Amino acid sequence: MHVLEMVNISKEFPGVKALDRVNFKVRKGEIHALCGENGAGKSTLMKVLSGLYPAGTYSGDIVIGGEKKQFHNITDAEKAGIAIIHQELALVKEMTVGENIFLGAEPTKRGVIQWDELYHNAAQWLKRVGLHISPDTKIGSLGIGQQQLVEIAKALSKHTQILILDEPTAALTESEVAILMGILNQLRSEGVSCVYISHKMPEVFALADSITVLRDGHTVATLDRKETDDDQVVSLMVGRELTERYPRVEHRPSDTVLEVRNYNVWHPEKRNQKVIKDVNFQLRKGEILGIAGLMGAGRTELVSSLFGAYGGKATGEVLVEGKPVRIRSVSDAIRAGFALVSEDRKRQGLVMGMDVKTNTTMATLAKVSKLGVINDNEEIRWGLKYVQDLKTKTASLETPVGTLSGGNQQKVVVGKWLMSDPKILIMDEPTRGIDVGAKYEIYHLMNQLVDQGVAIIMISSELPEVLGMSDRILVMSEGRFVREFDWRDATQENIMQAATGGK
Ligand SMILES: Nc1ncnc2c1ncn2[C@@H]1O[C@H](COP(=O)(O)OP(=O)(O)OP(=O)(O)O)[C@@H](O)[C@H]1O
Ligand SMILES: [Mg+2]
Repeated sequence: MHVLEMVNISKEFPGVKALDRVNFKVRKGEIHALCGENGAGKSTLMKVLSGLYPAGTYSGDIVIGGEKKQFHNITDAEKAGIAIIHQELALVKEMTVGENIFLGAEPTKRGVIQWDELYHNAAQWLKRVGLHISPDTKIGSLGIGQQQLVEIAKALSKHTQILILDEPTAALTESEVAILMGILNQLRSEGVSCVYISHKMPEVFALADSITVLRDGHTVATLDRKETDDDQVVSLMVGRELTERYPRVEHRPSDTVLEVRNYNVWHPEKRNQKVIKDVNFQLRKGEILGIAGLMGAGRTELVSSLFGAYGGKATGEVLVEGKPVRIRSVSDAIRAGFALVSEDRKRQGLVMGMDVKTNTTMATLAKVSKLGVINDNEEIRWGLKYVQDLKTKTASLETPVGTLSGGNQQKVVVGKWLMSDPKILIMDEPTRGIDVGAKYEIYHLMNQLVDQGVAIIMISSELPEVLGMSDRILVMSEGRFVREFDWRDATQENIMQAATGGK
């Protein structure tokens, strides 16, 4: 039986047909994966379902339990048992966990919020998702994984029958992913249906009962997981056979461009806590250095500190092309030849209200201006170049980046830093949220840059990516480099072993 049928759903934005007569059916108590390239329409379809785009702004029918429904807002959809957890988390950082869970649905008596009851109930829902924290903890003090679980607790508290998760694991640690999968399996056995959007095929195949593939706003296929495989889903997504996932080319590393000696970094608030401990490494022109490690190992802290963006105190020596440099701010770092594609595009990468070309040229205004005046034609030329190189899906260069799909936003971040022509390009989870076809474009560009003499440091939690692209791999654990591998000697097993401290 289908709990949900979406029939001939179409939705347009100015200049974009995001959904074109999409059909989508979900059974009771199944996990249904929704796959497709960046910009295929996945998030839009789920925003229609969850009432974020109200009736009248799209065409087609939503049928729930055999009954046609029209949602005018999110509350209507919630009443019908639908809850969505968005691609970008949406909790209020200044409020407590309990306040967030019951935001807008606080238990009241004669108009007075019953705080004891609220916190008591919140504690029950937290237990349900395996989160052992007090409900009066402030959201801002939680990690992303824990926030994700709070969002799920919040959804469950609304007696959700159809839970939608839009790329829920993009920022989770391995153990958090395992917890999430456990919860979803549990919900399935209780008859809750789940729509699961993900670019990670191993997860899709571990969890889903059915898989629907969208391409360019159309439904391409709905498949039974047992009757399909990774390769079929990927080729349906990109519309062609994708034989090679990692374009490995022989690089020829030359002179050392970066040397880091006895580098130590302290936590910005907990000032006696060291997050990076006596790190030494060299990076050569024309090589890709992969940094592997578990989440929390210190990889992001190391590179953001080198980039002048961390805040905590750092000691040690940094030499660029043999000359000592002192980096106290991001502009110092850019001047010294660094660029950083950050893992968190919202906080460090993009200005959401500004358009594609402005975001692209933002870090390199000198290239598009003369005597401080921006030359529009130059700005357009550069903006266009990276939209074409990266195959970014956008209606125009004047489109605000906030309206692009998640993966296409990440491409704009990548373009912005490629334009700065760095000597040392640091990429922190560069393909997070990016579809398999587009990943390939980014890898290709990385190889081209390396050929031109750029040195790349790539942090990635996806081991196949580290193994597929790096010339050399350093493994970090608890703030130290614990092993170095030539790519030829590295395997998923020996990297994981080093990352977990050899256990
Ligand atoms: N608010 C909006 N205004 C204008 N265009 C939009 C808006 N939201 C989405 N779009 C466009 O609609 C298309 C589908 O976007 P959507 O976010 O649904 O893609 P997606 O499949 O979720 O991709 P991703 O994997 O990158 O998250 C894209 O071309 C996108 O630019
Ligand atoms: Mg999306």
